[in-house]
Amino acid sequence: MTGQVPVLLCLAVLAIFGTVPKLLEESGTPAVPWIQLPFISHNPLILRCPGGQRSGRIYWQYINGSVLTAGKARTIAGPWAARYYRGPLKELKLRSRVHWDQLEIRPAWVGDSGLYVCKDGGRTLACYQVEVQDATRLHVSHASLGQGVLAKLTVPQLAQLFTSWGPWQACDRCGAPGERKRLGYCYARAASTPEGLAVPCGLLGVELPHHGPELRVEVCQVNCPLLPRPAHPPTQTRLARPGQSTELACLGASIHVPVSWQRDGVPLTRLGLLRRRGNAAHSLDPLTGGATYHIARVAASDRGLYRCLVNGRQASAFRLDLPAVPHRRRFDLGRLLAVARALVATFAALFVSSAILELVGCSSDSTHHLCY
Ligand SMILES: *[C@@H]1O[C@H](CO)[C@@H](O)[C@H](O)[C@H]1NC(C)=O
Repeated sequence: MTGQVPVLLCLAVLAIFGTVPKLLEESGTPAVPWIQLPFISHNPLILRCPGGQRSGRIYWQYINGSVLTAGKARTIAGPWAARYYRGPLKELKLRSRVHWDQLEIRPAWVGDSGLYVCKDGGRTLACYQVEVQDATRLHVSHASLGQGVLAKLTVPQLAQLFTSWGPWQACDRCGAPGERKRLGYCYARAASTPEGLAVPCGLLGVELPHHGPELRVEVCQVNCPLLPRPAHPPTQTRLARPGQSTELACLGASIHVPVSWQRDGVPLTRLGLLRRRGNAAHSLDPLTGGATYHIARVAASDRGLYRCLVNGRQASAFRLDLPAVPHRRRFDLGRLLAVARALVATFAALFVSSAILELVGCSSDSTHHLCY
């Protein structure tokens, strides 16, 4: 039954919040922030626990399901996370960790949607109702290719769906033409409350048509700030056979930060790759905002040094190489005969020498009965 307490507490806060927040404070219970947030799958999910900075006792509980169908609260990160979980809960726990006052889930999946409650001992510090939107439904549009963004969608008598855009990220490189991106989440406003608060689409509590998150990309160019030359990350060697596919995953990159790639010092941009019709084998993974560089069919001409930058800093370096194909030895009868001849000669020599040794042994010891 104790598992239900955070849900009830969060529900109480939700019910009262905004209408009579003073009531909670007066009754001695500080108001617990209740926040509804969207995230995107295949990327990190980070939640802050307000007021829980450095106690070292912060832990996070997860409740699967919506407010109405909430299951039991399970501690997934922090000092009291249980070890005996199975299935998706175990999976979630393995991807979760507490870092200072934050819960980090790397990466988040759609199934991680639910309630996240931050606690310090018996105190509940925050409740988050989280929807992880599906990156595989991401609508990517490049302004420079004339691609449009999703239009507002009105579902009669139900809701209006639209994209709520985040801020533009910094340009992904400096001193050369680069690209910048911004992420938008699907938000919905119920038709019954046209002036009401919009919520992440999955949290409206009604079955809605498909309207995924969005990624908008445009070109940019900025000047280089004068920074001390950062240390280069160690170069990893990546071997691939011709025709095989390979993936280069940039450390610390995600859809939420500027990521850029270069090959042998030459910038690789989304636009450049999209326009290179002849070689559609190379692409930047849209699900992670370009954190992974894909080569669908490796060719000898793909050899090179690939580097990625995150927030303008060198993050990973890969030397892509194709292993030298061993020279197939042709069946050579001449060589085989030569080897056979050498073997026969060796055996013959051994036989002759052992016979000679035996003869010498017998003559030097004539009393040995075995010799006669
Ligand atoms: C939550 O429940 C849904 C639906 O039953 C399931 O698909 C998902 O894996 C669950 N997530 C976790 C983390 O337990």
